[in-house]
Amino acid sequence: MPMESDVSPATSLHARLDVLVASSEAHPLIKTGGLADVVASLPAALRDLGHDARLIIPAYPQALRQVRELRRLAELRVPNTVCQVHLLGGRLPDHDLPVYLVEAPDYFSREGNPYTDVSGRDWGDNPERFLLFSRVVAYVALGLPPLDWRPDVLHCNDWQTGLAPAFLHDHDERPAVVFTIHNLAYQGLFDRATFDRLRLPAVLWSMAGVEFHQRLSFIKGGIIFADRVNTVSPTYAEEVKTARFGCGLDGLLRQLGGRFCGILNGIDYRIWNPATDPVLPQTYDHDSIHLKAGNKLLLQSRFDLPRNEGAFVLGYVGRLVEQKGVDMILSILPRLAAYPDVQLIMQGAGDRAIEQSLVAAMAEYRGRVSVQIGYDEGHAHLIEAGSDAFLMPSRFEPCGLNQMYSLRYGTVPIVHRTGGLADTVVDSSPESMANGTATGFLFNDPNPDGLWYALEAALRLAREAPDQWRRIMLTGMNQNLSWQASARRYEACYAEALGARHQQGAAASA
Ligand code: ADP
Ligand code: GLC
Repeated sequence: MPMESDVSPATSLHARLDVLVASSEAHPLIKTGGLADVVASLPAALRDLGHDARLIIPAYPQALRQVRELRRLAELRVPNTVCQVHLLGGRLPDHDLPVYLVEAPDYFSREGNPYTDVSGRDWGDNPERFLLFSRVVAYVALGLPPLDWRPDVLHCNDWQTGLAPAFLHDHDERPAVVFTIHNLAYQGLFDRATFDRLRLPAVLWSMAGVEFHQRLSFIKGGIIFADRVNTVSPTYAEEVKTARFGCGLDGLLRQLGGRFCGILNGIDYRIWNPATDPVLPQTYDHDSIHLKAGNKLLLQSRFDLPRNEGAFVLGYVGRLVEQKGVDMILSILPRLAAYPDVQLIMQGAGDRAIEQSLVAAMAEYRGRVSVQIGYDEGHAHLIEAGSDAFLMPSRFEPCGLNQMYSLRYGTVPIVHRTGGLADTVVDSSPESMANGTATGFLFNDPNPDGLWYALEAALRLAREAPDQWRRIMLTGMNQNLSWQASARRYEACYAEALGARHQQGAAASA
C-alpha cells in the first residue's frame, strides 16, 4: 500500500522534492549517538519546508516495536541473500514522518547495538548486513513499484550506507545522491577476502572505486559516487582536508573541490527545550532562569552526590571513546579536587577501559565525582538542565550536539576549539564578553593543561562575576540552533546535486 504524500504546501524557495534519507540508526527507534538525532530531525524539518522526506533504516527489534501503522509493503529478492527480505512502512512514534524498515531477520533481528554484540565487539557479519541494507536502499531509491513513490534525492549517511551510491552510479534513472560524513573515523574497512565474499562487481576494486590501500572501504562508495558530499560543520569540512584529521582520506576529500562542503547540524527544539522538557522536575526559559537550579537537586540525588544548590556542577554525557577526550577530564581531577564546591557528574558508555577508569575515579573522589555507566536518555536531559557547565574536550568533533543542547539549556559549554565545537561556541574573551556574544569557553591544545586553562577561567568567572556568568548563559540560550537554517542549506545542497545529476545525464545521452 502506498504511503500518502501528506506534506504541507511548499514554503521553500526550491521546488518540492521527494527525499529518501538512509541511516543505520534513528531516534527514537534506535540510537548510539548524534547520527540518530540528525536523521530523525532533518527530514522532519524538510517536511516543514514542504518536501516529502522519508526515512529508511534496518528493521531492528527496537524499531519494529515502536513504529506506528506498521505494514508490509513488498517482498524483495536480494542477490546472495538466503533469508527473506521485506520492506515495511510506518511512521515514527513521536512524529508523522514516514519510515521504511528493511526487514531481514538473519541480519537485523538482534537485540542490542546496531553495530556490536553485548560485549562491544563488532558483529562479524557487519559487511553483509550493511551491504544488504545499502542494496535495498538503492532499490527504494529507484522506485519500487508497490511504493508508488520515487525520490528525487537519496541522502545517505555514514559508511553503513556507502555502497548504495556505488550501486546506483550507472543507473540512467537514478536520483541525485548526497552523502553525509558524520564521522570520518568510522569508514567501514574490511579485507580483500570480504570484498570477494560479498561478490561485489570486480570493477569496484580500484582507486576509483571502493578499494582503499588494499582494503574494502564502504565510506569511499559514498565519497566517490555521490553527486555531493558533505560533513556536519564548516570547520570539520576544512579539518578533514588535512593529514591530521583526514584519516587517510584527506587527499580524496581535497580532490572533491566544490562537491564537498560543511553543513552545521541543528537541534530538535521539540525534544530539547528546557521550557517543555517532560524529564525535568522544573522547566524554565530565559525569563525564568533562576528556576534552573531546581533541576540540580534532582540530578545530585540521582547521582548520589550531596544535594546543594550552591555547588558548581560540571556535566558530561557521551560515548566513551578516544575521540571524546575523557582521559583529559580524568587527568585534571587532582587539580579540581582543590575546589571544594565543585561536583562532576558523568553519564556514558563505550570503551571498557575508559568505563573502568571512570568508575575508579568515582571511588577515589567519592562525594565529588559521580559516574553512571550506560545509556540513559532521561539522565542526558537532566544533566543538561541541572549542570552549571558542560565539558566537551573532544580531540576532534565533526559537529557535536551536546554542546548545542547545553547552550539551549543555559549550561555553559567548555570545549576544545575543533570542528563543530569551534563553530557553535563563542569563547568568553574580554572582547566577546564586552559585546555580549560570549557563550562558553574554548581551549586550543587538546591536553589536560589546555582543558584546565579553560575550566579554571570558567570557575573564576562564575565565582567572581556572577552577573557576567548569567549573561553568558542567557546569550547561549538565545542562540538560534534550530534545524530551520540547516534544513535550508541541505535543500540548496540537494538542488546542486540534482543539477550535477542532470548534467551527467545529459552528457551520457549526448
Ligand atoms: P556523537 O554522535 O559523536 O556521539 P554528539 O554530541 O553528536 O556525539 O551526539 C551524542 C548524542 O548521544 C547526544 O544526543 C547525547 O545526549 C547522546 N548520548 C551519548 N551517550 C549517551 C548516554 N550514555 N546516555 C544518553 N545519551 C547519550
Ligand atoms: C557523529 C559525530 C558528531 C556529530 C554526529 C551527528 O557521531 O561524532 O560530532 O554531531 O555524528 O552529525
